[in-house]
Amino acid sequence: MNLKGRSFLTLKDYTAEEIEYLLNLASELKEKKKKGILGNSLKGKNIALIFEKPSTRTRCSFTIGCIDEGGHPEYLGSEDIQLGHKESIEDTARVLGRMFDGIQFRGFAHENVEILAKYSGVPVWNGLTDMYHPTQILADFLTLKEQFGKLEGLKLVYVGDGRNNMANSLLIGASKMGVNITILSPKSLWPKKELIDKCKEYAISFGSIVEITDKIECVHNADAIYTDVWCSMGEEDLAAERIKLLKPYQVNDELLAKTGKPHTIVLHCLPAVKGNEITYDVFERFSTVIFDQAENRMHTIKAIMVATLGNE
Ligand code: CP
Ligand code: NVA
Repeated sequence: MNLKGRSFLTLKDYTAEEIEYLLNLASELKEKKKKGILGNSLKGKNIALIFEKPSTRTRCSFTIGCIDEGGHPEYLGSEDIQLGHKESIEDTARVLGRMFDGIQFRGFAHENVEILAKYSGVPVWNGLTDMYHPTQILADFLTLKEQFGKLEGLKLVYVGDGRNNMANSLLIGASKMGVNITILSPKSLWPKKELIDKCKEYAISFGSIVEITDKIECVHNADAIYTDVWCSMGEEDLAAERIKLLKPYQVNDELLAKTGKPHTIVLHCLPAVKGNEITYDVFERFSTVIFDQAENRMHTIKAIMVATLGNE
C-alpha cells in the first residue's frame, strides 16, 4: 500500500483498505515500541504542528510519534505565527511548505486545513477542525480491534452532540469499515442530511447499519457506547443550553443497563467533563479502555506520519 505524499484531512478520502492498512501499521508500531524498538522513518523530516485550539493528546502524539521515528517536530501556536492574523492561510501554507516536510493543523474552520493542503505542497494532517477529527477515529478503531478482535459487525452507539466533529467522523469511519453505527442525540443536534446520506452509501458495501435516533432504547445490544463533551472547543458559551438538552443522554448506569449486554464497553475521546456526558462512576469503571484509547492516539498518529511521509 503506498500512501506517500497523501494528506489526511477526512476519512472520506480514504478507502476501507487504506484505513485497515493504517490500523495494522499502528498495531505493528505499538508492538515495536513496547519492545523498545523505535524507527528512523522520519529522519531528516521537519514537521510543523499548528494549533489554533488547545490539545493534550493530539499535540503529544504528533510530537512523540515524530521524535520516535527520528523526525523534528515544531509547535506553532496561533499566537506564535501570523496565520490568519497578518498573513493569509494560502501564504502561510506556501512558506511552511518550503521549510517543512509535513504539517499538522488543529483549528476552527475545516476550509483552512484544505487550503493548507492545497497550497503547501506537503502532506497535511487534520488534528481536529470544527467539522472532523479523523486521527481520533483511527485510535478508536484500533482500540475496538484490540477489545473485540474485529470491527465488522460491531454495534457502536455514539451518544451526545450528534453534529460535532466526533459524531461526523465516527459516522464516516464506521460506515466505511462495516461497523453498525447509531448516533443517539436530540433531533436538533442530528448530523447534516448530506453526511448521513453519504455514509449510508458507504455502508452499502458491508451491508452495515447507519441509524440516527433520539430514542435511548437504541443502545440495546451495543458493543460499545461512545461519548464526547457536550460543548466542543469554541462552543463554551452554549453550556447552559446544551446541559438542558443533553441531560437525558448522559452515559450512566441506567443507560448502560439498557444495552442488555454484560460486556458493552464505554469509549471517550477525552477530555471528559464527568457529571455531564458521563458519570464519574462509569468513567472510572471503563478508565482502562478509555486510556488505552488515549495511548492509541500516539501509535495511530505515528502510523499516519510514517505511511504518508516516512522513508521505506
Ligand atoms: N482527543 C483529543 O483530541 O484530545 P486533545 O484535545 O487533548 O488533543
Ligand atoms: N468535540 C470535541 C472533541 C475534543 C477532542 C471538541 O471539538 O472540543
